[in-house]
Amino acid sequence: MTGVVDRSSEVASPQAQGHGPIEEIRRRVATHLVGRQRELDLLLAAVAAGRDVVIEGPPGTSKSTLLGAITQEWGIPLLFVEGNADLTPARIVGHHNPAQVLREDYHEDNFVPGPLIAAMKSGGFLYVEEFNRAPEDTLNTLLTAMAERRITIPRVGTVEALPTFRVVASMNPYDNVGTTRLSTSVHDRLCRLAIGYQDAEAERGIVRLRTLLDSERLISDAVALTRATRVHEAITQGSSVRGAIDTALVAHQLAALRQVSIPSSSDITPPRNLPEDYISVVLEAILVSLSGRVHVDETADSTPEQVLRTIWEDHFLLEPAAAAPG
Ligand SMILES: Nc1ncnc2c1ncn2[C@@H]1O[C@H](COP(=O)(O)OP(=O)(O)O)[C@@H](O)[C@H]1O
Ligand SMILES: [Mg+2]
Repeated sequence: MTGVVDRSSEVASPQAQGHGPIEEIRRRVATHLVGRQRELDLLLAAVAAGRDVVIEGPPGTSKSTLLGAITQEWGIPLLFVEGNADLTPARIVGHHNPAQVLREDYHEDNFVPGPLIAAMKSGGFLYVEEFNRAPEDTLNTLLTAMAERRITIPRVGTVEALPTFRVVASMNPYDNVGTTRLSTSVHDRLCRLAIGYQDAEAERGIVRLRTLLDSERLISDAVALTRATRVHEAITQGSSVRGAIDTALVAHQLAALRQVSIPSSSDITPPRNLPEDYISVVLEAILVSLSGRVHVDETADSTPEQVLRTIWEDHFLLEPAAAAPG
């Protein structure tokens, strides 16, 4: 990184872009979200301050939702790339169309911009998911673009970033297969936002919003069963709220197919003495919706289906006293 000119303070905040004061943007972004006020404030403050950010959290914890809402309300593009071994510098920067190069030789017009160049030119956010899976030379290309806010491409010339260009990276803290330990020079150039799972009430709100179902009973059971996968001793990584959304939707359809009625009770605790046909629909729904999402500890010697059945029994069948330790 020697010889890099740091121009990262030459950036625009939303006010400078003519999208109103930052509080106004925050208010509009918040209408897309259930909860997450604090994370929204911190992320918005960091990008408005011209900083690039890494968001560290497991899958399904609102990362894409937050970024999509911020860029939409800020009026700028959001470009996605997934960090993996194939994400070479040439893939994020771009390449010359080989057929056109044969006919016309290297030319600025036959250069196909990659997502980094597209984000710089359009003043968008480049969202690099699973940042820590990208090869080191790709990370260096990104760091150079972040610091210099321009990039020189052989036979094309120098591309200047518009002032709202940002790099936002994400990382799953539980992910340690095929990842590079990021060097301190990478960490030193990014702000960091740690994000975890929301509470049960917020997750019920998300499931309600995304499924448009009106059975509080089903929404509450889907959320409780999904949350139980995150604390079960045989599971190394449980399911995000995505699993609860799918459980509720699948159970709803399966209940219709089997002509099972879903209790409408808004009294969500405790989930005892519910009709047997309803709870067996929910069991089938979690097997479909959660078994591929939970990672069972290899030493636990059970299948995801067995673990999910135990979670289901604990939730619907065990007497509270029997569930208590001791
Ligand atoms: N705070 C939230 N408000 C509304 N919907 C949310 C929220 N968090 C997550 N979701 C929903 O849950 C799913 C996963 O969220 P997403 O933002 O894609 O997670 P991530 O990008 O962290 O993996 C999406 O369907 C999204 O709409
Ligand atoms: Mg995402």
